[in-house]
Amino acid sequence: MDNKNDWKPELYLLYKNERTQPSIDLVNRINIDYNPENIIDVGCGPGNSTMILAGRWPFSNFIGVDKSASMIEKARKDYPDKKWIAADAAEYETETEFDIVFSNAAIQWMPGHDKLIKKFYSMLSGRGVLAVQIPLFWNMHAGRAIKSVARLNRWKEKTEALENLMTIHNADFYYDQLSALFIKVEIWRTDYYHILDSQESIVEMLRSTGLKPYLETLDEPDGLLFEEKVLDEIKRFYPLQSNGKVLFPFQRLFFIGYK
Ligand SMILES: C[S@@+](CC[C@H](N)C(=O)[O-])C[C@H]1O[C@@H](n2cnc3c(N)ncnc32)[C@H](O)[C@@H]1O
Repeated sequence: MDNKNDWKPELYLLYKNERTQPSIDLVNRINIDYNPENIIDVGCGPGNSTMILAGRWPFSNFIGVDKSASMIEKARKDYPDKKWIAADAAEYETETEFDIVFSNAAIQWMPGHDKLIKKFYSMLSGRGVLAVQIPLFWNMHAGRAIKSVARLNRWKEKTEALENLMTIHNADFYYDQLSALFIKVEIWRTDYYHILDSQESIVEMLRSTGLKPYLETLDEPDGLLFEEKVLDEIKRFYPLQSNGKVLFPFQRLFFIGYK
């Protein structure tokens, strides 16, 4: 991946609290009464999710895997005592058996979730747990705003293929995949009401994630116009509160499988 299109850890971490709360909630829900030996964080980004795992299980061995060179570099710089690997998680092979395979806000960027879940299952030890969170991006007005702006004639040919870039299924799909493999499954959804300073903040938050592929595909003038049009849509759906803040409800689906 060239540098221009790589993830921007600093931009991503502008909303670190909002992005990390789901990891805190998911880690807290993992119900095990032993000290996990090996834990892998798939799509670990700059290591924020990994460090939540490390907070609960400080004596475990951690591997963070991420496809982005810039994210891995940032994780390595901030948390040098953990093991960070730059690799495509779908292709990553290891002899290590993991007591926890964890992934927060990452598998939506990976295709083939039926195969992927089987792969994660195969990486688990006999007592292992798979714990995943995935944003339900297209359920949200902000996601739909991006989709509808992308369909405008001005750039629709260039952006068409991006509609399928994210893979996100519903709870029924994940339940069927998990219940075929695991003896116990938990699945739930949370709407996080992010309290942001402005409607522009919603665009800023998405610029390093959901908007990213669109801005990479379009040249500078079109990219700016694209963002402006998304902002217009966002203003329609996310009004200012009495104190000038904006509520940005963000839907996230969680699942845990116990082997
Ligand atoms: C939204 S960030 C999540 C980072 C972190 N887990 C968190 O909770 O904030 C998504 C990460 O998934 C990574 N990613 C996307 N596709 C990947 C793949 N095929 N293999 C490994 N990492 C991938 C991206 O590089 C990015 O760092």
